[in-house]
Amino acid sequence: MTKATNLVWHESEVSKQDRRELKQHKSAVLWFTGLSGSGKSTLSSALEKELYINGVHTYRLDGDNIRHGLNKDLGFSPEDRTENIRRIGEVSKLMVDAGLFVLTAFISPYRNDRALVRELVETEEFIEIYVKASLETCEKRDPKGLYRKARTGEIKGFTGVDAPYDAPLQPEVTIDTDVLSIEESVETIVDYLKQNDYL
Ligand code: PPS
Repeated sequence: MTKATNLVWHESEVSKQDRRELKQHKSAVLWFTGLSGSGKSTLSSALEKELYINGVHTYRLDGDNIRHGLNKDLGFSPEDRTENIRRIGEVSKLMVDAGLFVLTAFISPYRNDRALVRELVETEEFIEIYVKASLETCEKRDPKGLYRKARTGEIKGFTGVDAPYDAPLQPEVTIDTDVLSIEESVETIVDYLKQNDYL
């Protein structure tokens, strides 16, 4: 691929601040990370509904869905996972600029990739939410039957089985789905957003 040259950045007449004032709430990325089956999709969907009810303009980006469109050229090699997260990070940045609360639900297994996304936006615009569940619990849930396939070798390089997952070291929020119900988890995140003046 040849890299484009002679590109000049254009500033907008309408700033992020202008758009935020119209919406009357801040914008940020709520970055859910965790093993397959930890509850990222369920939790981010439930939270999105709660935010919507409270008049917050949101958009949710989800692993399976994005891999059908924007990232359908990517697989699960380490390089492809990094590229997957890089693109999602750039899209999230645009959406934050548009004044939205972006909820992303990707395994995002590499700490370094998540750190790069954090750097793309302003400090207070990245909220890492670690959806914590033991591998044992995730395997027991196995909603898509993928752990079973990974254990029999039908799927290679499955996160938690034969591919790594770097748990966050200092996430803004940790939700232990082994312990908390969906309602309690949503409440914990909403409380965090209120206490930190996002809502
Ligand atoms: S990543 O690692 O962030 O790029 O993955 P992501 O885009 O979130 O996609 C994860 C979903 O893809 C399915 N799947 C796999 N996950 C992990 N490892 C392998 N090898 C794999 N192959 C397919 C799986 O359904 C994941 O969905 P979730 O919602 O996490 O269970």
